Amino acid sequence: MDNKDYLIDLFIHDLTGVLSIVSTSVNGLLKRPDKYGPITEKQQKTLNMIVRNSNKAQNFLNEIIEIYKSDEGLFKKDLFPIQNIIRDSIIEAMEIVDLSNAEKFSFESSYEEFCRQLKEQGIFINISGKYESSPFCHDRKKIQQILRNLFTNALKHRREKVTIAISGDSDLMVIVEDDGYGIPKEKRESIFTRFFHQKETNRTESSTDGLGFGLSCVKSILTMMNGTINLSSCEGVGTSFKVRIPPLEE
Ligand SMILES: Nc1ncnc2c1ncn2[C@@H]1O[C@H](COP(=O)(O)OP(=O)(O)OP(=O)(O)O)[C@@H](O)[C@H]1O
Ligand SMILES: [Mg+2]
Repeated sequence: MDNKDYLIDLFIHDLTGVLSIVSTSVNGLLKRPDKYGPITEKQQKTLNMIVRNSNKAQNFLNEIIEIYKSDEGLFKKDLFPIQNIIRDSIIEAMEIVDLSNAEKFSFESSYEEFCRQLKEQGIFINISGKYESSPFCHDRKKIQQILRNLFTNALKHRREKVTIAISGDSDLMVIVEDDGYGIPKEKRESIFTRFFHQKETNRTESSTDGLGFGLSCVKSILTMMNGTINLSSCEGVGTSFKVRIPPLEE
């Protein structure tokens, strides 16, 4: 281990402590009205979201620790319907890009109702092929990370529309397309480089700015999965990312 690794270990350790304080405090607000006073329905919704996201951050940290500890494969095999993972990833991406809009969606509504709500927001999902009716076998959390990153970028850069197309009879194929300003030819290689981030001029002060980390992580995970990612973009018209993921053996 070099000095950088020890520092990162220390940060992971300290972050775990900080996050557990966030969870415990918000859980207190939610569960102890006798101590903290009553909360409104709207406040409850926001507090639930804080709990959900701090748990998620804690799970990410646990996963980092698991990866360091484990000598086995990097992927945990799981069988899951692709529809579930798309819904979770879109809501997570919405929470990053447009929190007030994300609050309109629910993890509990039917998939059909969810798609209908998405259409109203200019987001279209089209599923065909084997995985329309059969579950996909892979590491659920890693697939969700890939999708969340692509959806976040598409939602950030779209003008109006995002289209998600799922297909494939063996390898899972995912296309995420937006109608944004596109990526100039000379930048198309560098966007997969760690910490490449292009400042966005058309965004508001309050919107969250990226780290320039997402696509390089997506590409590395896909390489470990023997998958691929391809980009096509037309300036002024939009961008499309096509991902191919071979399933793990059941
Ligand atoms: N759909 C898209 N349309 C236009 N540009 C994009 C799109 N997706 C990515 N980019 C460009 O690629 C860059 C790198 O994307 P990447 O996801 O790696 O980082 P980011 O979104 O800036 O930050 P984060 O680490 O939070 O994801 C972005 O800064 C942006 O300039
Ligand atoms: Mg990104």
